[in-house]
Amino acid sequence: MRTETIVLLKGDGIGPEIVTEAQKVLQLVSDARKEANGFQLEFKEELIGGIAIDQTGSPLPEKTLNSCLNASAVLLGAVGGPQWPRPATPENPNPPRPEQGLLDIRKKMNLFCNIRPCIFPCESLKQKSPLKEEIVKDTEFIVVRELTGGAYFGKREEENAEGVAYDTTVYSVPEVQRITRIAAKLALAHEPPYPIISIDKANVLASSRLWRRVVTETIEKEFPTVKLQHQLVDSAAMIMVKNPSALNGVLLTENMFGDILSDESSVIPGSLGLLPSASLNGWGKESNGLYEPIHGSAPEIAGQNIANPIGTILSGAMLLRYSLGLEREAKAIEKAVAKVLDDEQHGGLNIRTKELGGNATTTEIGDAICKALADELNQLNIEDY
Ligand code: NAD
Ligand code: IPM
Ligand code: MN
Repeated sequence: MRTETIVLLKGDGIGPEIVTEAQKVLQLVSDARKEANGFQLEFKEELIGGIAIDQTGSPLPEKTLNSCLNASAVLLGAVGGPQWPRPATPENPNPPRPEQGLLDIRKKMNLFCNIRPCIFPCESLKQKSPLKEEIVKDTEFIVVRELTGGAYFGKREEENAEGVAYDTTVYSVPEVQRITRIAAKLALAHEPPYPIISIDKANVLASSRLWRRVVTETIEKEFPTVKLQHQLVDSAAMIMVKNPSALNGVLLTENMFGDILSDESSVIPGSLGLLPSASLNGWGKESNGLYEPIHGSAPEIAGQNIANPIGTILSGAMLLRYSLGLEREAKAIEKAVAKVLDDEQHGGLNIRTKELGGNATTTEIGDAICKALADELNQLNIEDY
């Protein structure tokens, strides 16, 4: 029996609640595939973030890293919360931060490419966007964020005795080339091919001028059919809410610009809780990957069973697509999510979590998606196996 091991890193805050729902969905796929064609998923939980600090002293324990390096894929909830870092003591003047565990795992798994699609997971949310329907309805872009370089990993100094601190944004030619190649392959995988809109601050930053030069040369030399445009990050942020479909295509960004723009993009479908991501170390359906919603640990709503699990469930679909090559099953999950959000049978209020104006719990959303997914998977069995 082909068995694929998925490491679950639930983490902190709402992390355990949302990963539990995504696990239910993936378990259903596993059960269906086991019956139909002898394939199963096996789950293994490991610690990361604040909970890992409290239990082991490290935000990324050796055991977690080893399990992740040996797994078929990793699904992560979120890390961090107001209780960390724990107060400094004379023995431990620099207590560890949960977020460092996430940065370390990205670096150690060489996950330099972070794909964050800005999509409407269903039609009916187009009328519910905080932006006007006619402005958002045709939005379709994918943020491709460089994930292991830039200010996150450059030389830094914590505040010193003179009251000065710094982080440096560093990029090398090979780092920009490899992320550009993935952006181009993703652009070409779409029918018709997406244009690439490369985001930078080349009017001010040296690292951005290198970025723009290398992106331009790589596309011209290696992907001459891909249309390339450059946009300064400040005006890109404005266009994203004024006329987001002007950015349709692949938005190629350095690490921090992609972090900020992807959170902004979630205003289009209406909630940070909806958007998934894939962090990869290359391109191809068998690439090694870590999958997580784009949002954080939302500590103020943790433990209440009200967090939206859809970003994590859709990250599970991306996991099946990019790490296991299970495109049909990935699509089945996406269809099930759309069905639940578009369902008209709930007294006029479609089944949604609180931040989207509904009153469904995290668990109810997960259960409803599982129910819809069972139907989708049954159809797959008849048609395709
Ligand atoms: P956040 O993303 O946790 O929350 C921002 C807002 O969105 C909050 O109002 C929150 O309630 C809401 N929200 C987020 N996810 C939601 C969901 N699934 N359902 C419903 N509402 C949701 O960002 P923050 O408040 O700036 O950060 C909180 C903590 O999370 C910090 O410690 C931060 O470092 C950490 N963080 C972790 C990750 C990660 O693990 N990948 C990402 C971002 C932030
Ligand atoms: C994200 C988060 C992380 C980032 C933090 C928690 C390290 O904001 O995944 O978007 O900045 O990359
Ligand atoms: Mn972020």
